[in-house]
Amino acid sequence: MVQLTLPKNSTIQKGKHWPAPEGADPKNVRQFRVYRYDPDSGENPRWDTYDLDTSQFGPMALHAIIYIKDNVDSTLTFRRSCREGVCGSCAMNIDGRNTIACTKPLDEIKSKVISISPLPHQAVIKDLVPDLNNFYAQHAAMQPYLKTTTAAPDKEWKQSIEDREKLDGLYECILCASCSTACPSYWWNGDKYLGPAALLQAYRWLIDSRDEATGERLDALEDPFRLYRCHTIMNCTQVCPKGLNPAKAIGAIKQMLVEREV
Ligand code: SF4
Ligand code: FES
Repeated sequence: MVQLTLPKNSTIQKGKHWPAPEGADPKNVRQFRVYRYDPDSGENPRWDTYDLDTSQFGPMALHAIIYIKDNVDSTLTFRRSCREGVCGSCAMNIDGRNTIACTKPLDEIKSKVISISPLPHQAVIKDLVPDLNNFYAQHAAMQPYLKTTTAAPDKEWKQSIEDREKLDGLYECILCASCSTACPSYWWNGDKYLGPAALLQAYRWLIDSRDEATGERLDALEDPFRLYRCHTIMNCTQVCPKGLNPAKAIGAIKQMLVEREV
């Protein structure tokens, strides 16, 4: 039978509240509601709220959570590395939308309370850290490297400027998983449907003029779930923090499959 309610141990409870520091100017204070979950505690997840003096840290959402960890509550757990939108590790759901925290300006968020939670519909390891093992395995399954049968040239595989330009809008993917975890088809069938990020990657190699495994790559995608579970909902394209268009890449793969049949 379909289960329409959360199991009891998944219900998010009200958590702790950290008031603003004494003397903070009220016009600088904003409230952050942060998802907390510690599997070792045996307790349900909870929303903790932090009233922060935003004059004490930088302009991005990542600055706020680093400030919490350094100054308010050192138990808060999250991933981050580059702090400039290139590693993809700080992806989370901020104010109801998947994005990367390090390039998300707080002044773009108009909500009174700023909610921060892990990327949706993935198992949570702790606090804001989702389990992305399946996501990375799907990426690896796309064999994201040049596959050739002709002998390797002495120096390099050459590519014309025009052919290289075809990869623009594809190679910039930072594997943050914002797109895949915003996709309802991926929520329900993430074990069988590859999701927008892996498919964008697949297309990047399908149209690389140097690659010689196009047929083999298309064969691996021709399946009712792996590719065709995309129903063009377009959440992927809407949320991508790098401005990429996975939905367009998926459409182009479908077209390649149709064209090879005729
Ligand atoms: S396509 Fe965009 S949202 Fe998806 S993984 Fe790549 S950078 Fe992230
Ligand atoms: S910390 Fe690297 S993308 Fe945000």
